[in-house]
Amino acid sequence: MEFALNDTQEMIQQTARRFADQELLPVAAAIDKAGAFPEAQVRKLAALGFLGVAVEERFGGAGLDVLSYAIAMEEVSRGCASTGVIMSVNNSLVCDPIQRYGDDAQRKRWLGPLARGERLGCFALSEPGSGSDAAGMRTTALRDGDAYVVNGTKNWITNGKEADLCVLIVHTDPSERHKGISALVVDRRESPYGIGKVEDKLGIKGSSTTSLVFEDLRVPVANRLGEEGDGFKVAMSTLDGGRIGIAAQALGIARIAFEEALAYSREREAFGKKIGDFGAIREMLADMATEIDAARLLIWQAAVAKDEGQAYGKLSAMAKLYASEMSARVTHKALQIHGGYGYVKEYNAERHVRDARITEIYEGTSEIQRLVIARETQRELAAKA
Ligand code: CAA
Repeated sequence: MEFALNDTQEMIQQTARRFADQELLPVAAAIDKAGAFPEAQVRKLAALGFLGVAVEERFGGAGLDVLSYAIAMEEVSRGCASTGVIMSVNNSLVCDPIQRYGDDAQRKRWLGPLARGERLGCFALSEPGSGSDAAGMRTTALRDGDAYVVNGTKNWITNGKEADLCVLIVHTDPSERHKGISALVVDRRESPYGIGKVEDKLGIKGSSTTSLVFEDLRVPVANRLGEEGDGFKVAMSTLDGGRIGIAAQALGIARIAFEEALAYSREREAFGKKIGDFGAIREMLADMATEIDAARLLIWQAAVAKDEGQAYGKLSAMAKLYASEMSARVTHKALQIHGGYGYVKEYNAERHVRDARITEIYEGTSEIQRLVIARETQRELAAKA
């Protein structure tokens, strides 16, 4: 594996870092406090090409590789975790499946507007009664002529309030489990689904999380991605890529928490010296720095595997598992280093703890990542035997 970034990847890193420093860090606390969608910042993401990083140029995207996407996600999330997840969902969970599984007409119709920020996407798989057991979903899309009639409710939809385009995973044959599932693009301008409850969350408060309601909603058959019955594989492989983005989000949150704790440890004095000179604090800082770099290596490994067309499901699960749990540990330590100041909203440390927590849950809980890693490792061993 090559560790050096090429010129384009370095340029993306610098651009994203500058954007985070200038446009996100100064407003991230206010976005959290207001629980408001960062509209101006998302518009700027689009202008930088960060809403369709890996979308091919011929379809209106930036045409970059997955490693560039992971690098940009880390930097943007360092600036603002809410902006990070909005970007991640649009790229990984919406543009990616349309590009990979859509036909040219579907790609031309949706990818350019999504990459340019004229449209925003969301991904609807989970339901009130099915999360980790994705194939246990109940939402149906039954064929009626040249349309599907969709009925059901989807839950935990990031971007749900603002998105006007949804990659929807449904049962087109409810008598089958995963083999009866299909993926549809539901364009709200054409098929106006309802937006249900808007969740009041612990963290990433600038991104919306809603339910989506489908009641006898007609969606053209022409909007199906791939064949009927392919939807579970579309969803699973989409999440394999999405997990790289969420891992990078977790990494960005950990980095800013670490940077702020380091700065605080150099200023704050106790017992006549800077707290950063105490062994207890230095040990924490050393562990934080080491774990942050370890997570980045796992993320880059998964991104490069995807770029090179190798199997990356296990690698992205490893990256997300480690990065999200690392982010929880690092943000907790960062809060601890701040002492009482870490617990109050005058500093950012408590926000980073809150923002990091969801990365262990969405796009597959840590328990699901361990299941994916264990299954794949056993398969690899069996194949070698
Ligand atoms: N890629 C392609 N195909 C895959 C696959 C993958 N990564 N994983 C499984 N499949 C295929 C299998 O090969 C199998 O196909 P065949 O029958 O043809 O062999 C089929 O799918 C069924 O596979 P499993 O038997 O492994 O299915 P399962 O029911 O046991 O479930 C699971 C597997 C890994 C637990 C899966 O349900 C899962 O990933 N659950 C977690 C779901 C998740 O991450 N949800 C997050 C929702 S998105 C979100 O968070 C919202 C947001 O807005 C951010």
